[in-house]
Amino acid sequence: MSLLILGIESSCDETGVALVRLEEPSEGGAVPALLSHALHSQIEMHQAYGGVVPELASRDHIRRVLPLTEAVLAEAGEQLSDIDVVAFTRGPGLAGALLVGAGVACALGAALGKPVLGVHHLEGHLLSPFLSEDPPEFPFVALLVSGGHTQLMRVDGVGSYAILGETIDDAAGEAFDKSAKLMGLGYPGGPALSKLAQQGDPEAFKLPRPLLHSGDLDFSFAGLKTAVLTQAKKLGDELPARKADLAASTEAAIVDVLVKKTLAALKQTGMKRVVVAGGVGANRLLRAQLNAACARMKVRVHYPELHLCTDNGAMIAMAAAMRIQSGREQPRTEYAFDVKPR
Ligand code: KG4
Ligand code: ZN
Repeated sequence: MSLLILGIESSCDETGVALVRLEEPSEGGAVPALLSHALHSQIEMHQAYGGVVPELASRDHIRRVLPLTEAVLAEAGEQLSDIDVVAFTRGPGLAGALLVGAGVACALGAALGKPVLGVHHLEGHLLSPFLSEDPPEFPFVALLVSGGHTQLMRVDGVGSYAILGETIDDAAGEAFDKSAKLMGLGYPGGPALSKLAQQGDPEAFKLPRPLLHSGDLDFSFAGLKTAVLTQAKKLGDELPARKADLAASTEAAIVDVLVKKTLAALKQTGMKRVVVAGGVGANRLLRAQLNAACARMKVRVHYPELHLCTDNGAMIAMAAAMRIQSGREQPRTEYAFDVKPR
């Protein structure tokens, strides 16, 4: 017995659709296999506005989701009628955008007479390293760093998550995005800031590392953004010439805190494995510094593949498959759906 699971992600500005096959829907089986996935990024469309415009996002998800579904079916050599479960992102995210994915998923499920399953977006990110060729084993410490969340977790298995620490204000991705905006680097800021940082001196400016010595595993990034703004104002006309230095110093401050807190979480839990997930997990400096520190501590680090760090449908199909496999969830043939934006 095997299950073909369609996953639909539409929480923000990427429409992602994927097919995953779960060979043996019982606990302890093999890691589910990704058959195909397709993504349409709306970044270009929102760029003119300097950020995501929710209304435009919803409209574009509607345009993309069915053609992408056809594309993943064709790539995997499957038919619509072969689908056994339709999974979708239930939240958190933009309400209108979520409703598109949920509505399409439930309509498909109802038309096919197949069950549906709503997935937590962050669980998708968290389990995305299982899509890589060298998937992690439980238990592990997870550093979840996205545009909306920054959390350290202890993960003992599918659905068994304990928060060790989290941000008390801005998320790490937000710190990247807001600092980038202050420097006029556009949207999305994280990758742009990181690219510019490669030409700068990370020690050019002394920026704060909030809560670094707080003794707990919480984060705070709001003060950093203010410090970047103050520094940018102080530079005035000099800013264009020093932008790369400011970008490098900002990236170094964010990454420094993320790495040190992750190491503290490893020490606290005694774990020898860490998983990094979410969009900021694509950051080059974060990967380099964490790899170096973990090598010293003899800790294994797992990342999602680079193209699966940011939002995608594969992680939603995968999370659904793993939830079914763990026995924690049964997909339902109840098509009245809701979404959970927060
Ligand atoms: O996980 P994600 O795609 O969406 C959310 O669920 O939020 O994360 C998006 C975030 C954005 O803040 C983006 O700027 C950041 O991830 N990001 C990066 C990089 N790539 C994406 N931040 C720093 N360096 C990167 N290379
Ligand atoms: Zn995300």
